[in-house]
This record gives sequence, C-alpha cells and structure tokens, in this order.
Amino acid sequence: MRNFLLVTLGLVTLLFGACSLDSETNNYVNKYQLNEAYEPIIDSLIAEMTLDEKVGMLHGTGMFVSGGVERLGVPEFHYTDGPNGVREELERHSWKPLALDNDSATFFPTGSALGATWNKEIAQLYGKALGLETRARGKDMILGPAVNIMRTPLGGRTFEYFTEDPFLNSEIAVGYVRGVQNQDVAVCVKHFAANNQENERDRIDVLMNERTLREIYLPAYKATVIDADALGMMGAYNKFRGEYLCQNNYLNNQLLKGEWGFKGIIVSDWGATHNTKTAALGGLDVEMGTWTKEQNYDQNFMGHPLRDSVIAGVVPMEVIDDKVRRILRLSYNLNKMEDGRAKGELVSPKIKKIARDVAAEAIVLLKNDNSILPLKKSELESVAVIGFNATWKQAKGGFTAGVKAKYEVTPLEGIQNKLGNNVAVNYAMGYIQKFEEEGNWRTPNIDTPNQELIAEAVEAAKKSDVAIIVAGNTRETESETKDRKTLTLPFGQDELIKAVAAVNPNTIVVIAAGAPNDLTVTSQNAQAVLYSWFNGSEGGNALADVLFGDVNPSGKLPFTIAHKLEDIGVHSLNAYPGENLKVEYTEGILVGYRWFDTKNIEPAYPFGFGLSYTNFELSKSKTDKNSYTATDKIQLTVSVENKGETKGKEVVQCYVHDLECSVMRPTKELKAFQKIEIEAGKTKNVSLTIDVEDLAFFDESSNSWLVEPGEFKLLIGTSSRNIAQEIIISVTDK
Ligand code: BGC
Repeated sequence: MRNFLLVTLGLVTLLFGACSLDSETNNYVNKYQLNEAYEPIIDSLIAEMTLDEKVGMLHGTGMFVSGGVERLGVPEFHYTDGPNGVREELERHSWKPLALDNDSATFFPTGSALGATWNKEIAQLYGKALGLETRARGKDMILGPAVNIMRTPLGGRTFEYFTEDPFLNSEIAVGYVRGVQNQDVAVCVKHFAANNQENERDRIDVLMNERTLREIYLPAYKATVIDADALGMMGAYNKFRGEYLCQNNYLNNQLLKGEWGFKGIIVSDWGATHNTKTAALGGLDVEMGTWTKEQNYDQNFMGHPLRDSVIAGVVPMEVIDDKVRRILRLSYNLNKMEDGRAKGELVSPKIKKIARDVAAEAIVLLKNDNSILPLKKSELESVAVIGFNATWKQAKGGFTAGVKAKYEVTPLEGIQNKLGNNVAVNYAMGYIQKFEEEGNWRTPNIDTPNQELIAEAVEAAKKSDVAIIVAGNTRETESETKDRKTLTLPFGQDELIKAVAAVNPNTIVVIAAGAPNDLTVTSQNAQAVLYSWFNGSEGGNALADVLFGDVNPSGKLPFTIAHKLEDIGVHSLNAYPGENLKVEYTEGILVGYRWFDTKNIEPAYPFGFGLSYTNFELSKSKTDKNSYTATDKIQLTVSVENKGETKGKEVVQCYVHDLECSVMRPTKELKAFQKIEIEAGKTKNVSLTIDVEDLAFFDESSNSWLVEPGEFKLLIGTSSRNIAQEIIISVTDK
C-alpha cells in the first residue's frame, strides 16, 4: 500500500485580500481590493430598506440594468456585453440598438486569440483597455471573460473562449479580470459552469464526474475568485446534474460562495432563471433578461413572487439581505457611491495600441516552408490578396459578443497600408458566404464552390508574385446559439486553395477563425499557413506586421487542431451533443491534448504549437531540488537561446506526468509557462514555479485534492509535442 499524502486545498478565504499596486505599471498585479470598512455602512443601509426596496434590486429593470433605491441614494447597476468589446447602447427595454453616434467601441481580439498569446501580462493589458472603455461608457460590469472549456471544436462559442486547457485558461482569465477591475469595473465571469455547447443549451443536462468538474471545468472560475477577486459570475443556461445552473445550490452556494469564499454577485444569464424559490435559495443574486415589458419587471421570478415568498416564510429575509449586501459591496468598492471613480477612455491611442499588440501576439504561424515568410516588400512587384475574409469585417456577428466597432482594419486594408503604392495589390473574392436554412441550423453551404470567383482568383494569383488567401470562418459561421456541424472550411474554400496554389507556388493561407478547422487541404497546398483569428479592430494591421516581418510571430495554439473530428475524444466516444436532453462527458478529464497524448493520436497541429521567424533552443533545465514535500514549490530554470538572426519571443511550457499513481492520469498536463523575448544570438534563463500541491488530482473517494508520493516527470518544451528536456523529481510525504 502506498502512502497517501492528503492535500486539502479546501476553503481558501481571500476575503479582503491585499495586493495593491499602480495599474499604470501594467505589472501582473491586482490593485483591486475589497474594503472591509464599507461592511458596517452597508449593513446600516440594508437596515433602512423595506422588503420591496430590497427585492427591487434583485432583478432587471431593463435589458442591461438592475434596480437601485432612489430614496436612499442607491443607484441602479449597469451591465454591458462583453466579452471582447463594449456592446453598443440598446433600448432600455429591448434588444434594439439605439443607433447612437457616440457608442462605438474598440473590437478586441476574441477569446481564442487572447488565449493564443500565452501571455498573462498582455491579458491584463487587454482587461485594462476593456475596463477603460467600459467606464467611458458609464457601465459598472462587463459581461466577460467567458472561460468555458473548448470541449468540442464545433461549439458555436469556441471563439469567445480561451482554450481547451484549464491552466492556460486560468492564467489568461486572471490577467483579464485584474486588468478590468483595476479600472473600477466589475467583471462577470461566464458561463458558470459546464456550458460547452450551444446545441440545446437552454435545456441540456450536463453530467460528469466530480474529478472532471474539478480538474477541467472549474479551475479558471476558481482562479478568478481566489487570485483576482472577481466580483461577478454569470450562471449558464443549461442544467448541471439535473438542476439549472442559475439555481444550482451545489455550484453556487457550496462551491463558489462556500469553498471559494466568493464575495461578489451571481447574475443569471439572460432569461436563464426558472423558479423563484430554487433560484433564491440556489445562490442567484440578480435575475436578468426575463422577456417582460417595462411595467412587468415586478413579475420576474425575483420580483413580486420573491417578495411573496419572503412574506410566506419560504425564503428567509437573511437570504435576501445577503444578496443586497453583495450588490452594495460592489457599488461601494467600485467607487460608485462616491467621487473619484475611474473615468475611462474610448478608442484612445493607448487602447488602439493595446488592441494591435494583442492581435500581433496572437497570430500563430503554423507552417513556413522555405522560409517564404516574412515577405520582403522590396522584392515584390505584385501581391494577390484573395478571399471573402480579406474584406469582411468581423466585429458584428457572434450575437451577444458583437461589437459596433469604431473602426476595423481588414486584412486587405492592413496589407495595403503596409505596401503603399509601389506594390500592386490584386484582390479577388474567391468565395462567398452563403447559408442554407435548416430548422434551427443556419448551415454554411460547404459543397458548392463558386467557380466564377475561383477563376477570378486564379487569374489574380497568376499575375502576382505571391498569393495570400484569407480564408476561415466568419462570426456568422461561428456564433452563439448554434454549433457548427463540421470542421471543413465553409463555402468551397478548399477548392479555391487548391486552384490558387496550382498556379502560384508562393501561396500563403491565413485562417481567420476563432475555432479549429480541418486544415488538411490547406497544409498540403500552401507554403505558409497562419491562424489570425477574429483579431479585432487592429487585426488587419497586425496581420500585415507579421506577414512583412515587423513583428516576429509568437502566438501558440490554445487548442489542438485534429486531422479529423473522430480523432477527438468527445467525438470518438459519441459524447456530443447528447441524447434526450442529457449529455454525459464520458471522455472525463481527457479533453483536448490530454486525449491525443494519452491515446497516442497524432494531431494535425498540437496544443501549444507555433513557429517563429527565428529558432530557439532549450537546454540546461534544472530544478532547485530533486525531492519535494506537498507544501514545497518547485523552482525550475531553463536556458533559452535564440539561435537565429531575428529578435523573437518563445513560450517555454512545462507539462507534468505523474509516473506512479493509483488513478489514470493524462500523459501531459500543462502546469507552468512563460513567454520571453530574446535578442538574436542571445541566451536567457527562464524561471518557472510550480506549487507541488498543483500536481494533485481530485480524489473522488476522499472528495479532496491529493498528491500521491512518488515520481513525477517534468516535460519542458515549446509545444505539447515538442519536448526538449525532461526532469524527474520525487514527492515524499515528509
Ligand atoms: C449570453 C451571454 C450574454 C447575455 C447578455 C446571453 O444570450 O449567453 O453571454 O452576456 O446574453 O447579452
């Protein structure tokens, strides 16, 4: 029998946590802190409120506003989408835009792009820019970040989410939250939790074991609470183990507010509340988005029916007071009740620069045969830019994540800006977005390439030195409310790519998308392939920066790109989209690369992969000790040499494999990473820290996190499949 070393990470109370630094330093810090001194003031305010006044604060009084108490000077609370830009102003009581001329905002790169930066400092800058714009638009809470795990690449909201990996997810989410909240704006981390498909999202019941929940689906939510004092959480639409998430006592009360000590508010997703008593007792604080008309908000589940439940003794007054206290806690701590609140900025030069920096860091170079990239402007006379996505603006679309962008530089504009007048740019559309309506599905028409457009593209490619095809998806093909049906590039793009590459060997394919696609044809035909995401207002400029070498690409895939759908755990096990309104996550913890690596399946492009215009060599990895106990930290140093002739950034990634364990563990689990910039020919040492307790698995029999003594292998590399160094350490129980 082996000795079990129990590590109970249990209740971590971060109440009134205490790190404070200047947000302008842009360091990876949390200036935000809850001020304990407000608590007695809040209590005396609550003591003065009538039941009606209290209940009036617990539901929407407009589409994006919940109630205040005028008599006592408590203002209404204003929300905005989220998560990748501040949404335009809508009519108070409907989804209809007000069509104002002062509510345009910056369209920031969407979630998977931010995930691809693998850069927590830049995630904090992103949050800062978003927080500044949210304040400038007078809002209190931004409905983001969206941290649901990418369980299937078909998920309609994959573009909104960061990654398939819980650790990368947590690191990016924490940066985002700190950045936003440092601007006196609350986040609303969504969609809590296990909302991983759009198909039947309003009704589907998600079933998974506790280990899977804790190890894969919850870490980012927990990290935003524990490490960044997130002030808001949005309950998802679906059910979890038989109960709707907005009224799920286990997740909301036991875990979030109990174990994790969450001090903020749980807001329902819009229209996701189903029952007064269950919601009130199941942890929901504010009901939003019920489809009532202005005069009927009182009829919401958390309106008069809630008041009546209190009077009838079904819901205790303390439960109501706790919800009101949480809302007031936000108002005080966001400086909403007094002068001196951050004012914000909208589309300022500083924000534009952040948008461009994030976009440039996100772009992933997947293939670069014969070093065709970066292109040298001085050697070019003509460039063909081909593809519907070269001119299509991606800011709108995606439903609630759409942004009315002040401006958006398209890929074609970005390339033209870069080339000026001396290089001819031959544009051809190549394919066109087209849909078929089919029940609830709006299916991209994938089988009918447009031969006329292909012929035009071929002509443009023939007369150009280089052909850049901007392919991929749009925010109509990847969108909230519907999943995709296939990984195939839509609208006949594969045929276009083959035809263009056949006449121009210098073909480069840029995939604008938020989710993985089948890149078989692309990779076989193009010399270079890039993933350039839905990359925001500055996306076109950032793309041109990378194509022409002003920026050396440093993005890394935040997900695995499979050769085919059946290679992915969820799909090979037929565990999506569920049956009879239930979906069982039978793949368990084997999500994303955990499945590919453990089952020895070759991906098309692995998690963590991305090329650079230079090359790096990792060496001399060492740990501070060989043997650790459960409370230790592992200090790992790695030497990284830039062996090329260009300055560049590399992401050092450390995966861990538990060599002796009583339960199945994945072959690799990401536990640390660091992005680092190195001058050509230079070497730097990178330090990574791993808490031994983070090597734990969730043990279902003891319902706690457990590190079993024994050997662990640290795998250090530049992607999940490019492991340069291995170190074995041991963990002992004393
Ligand atoms: C989405 C949320 C969004 C909310 C408000 C819902 O449909 O699921 O992510 O924040 O609408 O627009």
